[in-house]
Amino acid sequence: MQTISAILALGPVVPVLTIDDVETAVPLARALAKGGLPAIEVTLRTAASPDAIRAIAAEVPEATVGAGTILTPKHYEAAVDAGARFIVSPGCTPDLVRAATESEVPFLPGAATASEVMTLMGANFTHMKFFPAGPAGGVKMLAALAAPLPAVRFCPTGGVTLENAPDYLALPNVACVGGSWVAPADAVKARDWGRIEELARAAAALRK
Ligand code: 3PG
Repeated sequence: MQTISAILALGPVVPVLTIDDVETAVPLARALAKGGLPAIEVTLRTAASPDAIRAIAAEVPEATVGAGTILTPKHYEAAVDAGARFIVSPGCTPDLVRAATESEVPFLPGAATASEVMTLMGANFTHMKFFPAGPAGGVKMLAALAAPLPAVRFCPTGGVTLENAPDYLALPNVACVGGSWVAPADAVKARDWGRIEELARAAAALRK
């Protein structure tokens, strides 16, 4: 099992995917990995998502598929059963901390304030999703958190784009960024895997 630190080091951007049609999961993951983004978060927001995770885990060994939008221990368990290699939440609860402690599959909890970060540090988390990055204060907020809380590494997600990603990636407390821009809904609908590979290539070129 890879650590969350190793997974977040696989590329500068973790694509955040909301998959409606399970048939798109494998070619989409292949295109993203081929473009240089092997760590992929599939949100558990659609009926197709558990099967999408299962298909990517089974058929795309070059990708490291995780599950996002995990809100409860039941979600955590369902995602692990489907083959998720990491688990992401927009926030955190004591129940999710317990689920993470009992699982071998690493957890990236969400935090957006100093108190939330400190609570997660108290539960021994070193890596967190900063969510929703833009509305929660963006680059300035993360830079301000680095002064009193320098040991924590973040994956800011929510409002991150190809244009503003370099500002986040330049911060010492940012491991990588997350975003949905690398897999736009229209490109997925059109099965335009070439375009998605190109978007992934441009995102991968950002580098940490
Ligand atoms: C998420 O679903 O985790 C984020 O909201 C993705 O945000 P984005 O669509 O702004 O990249």
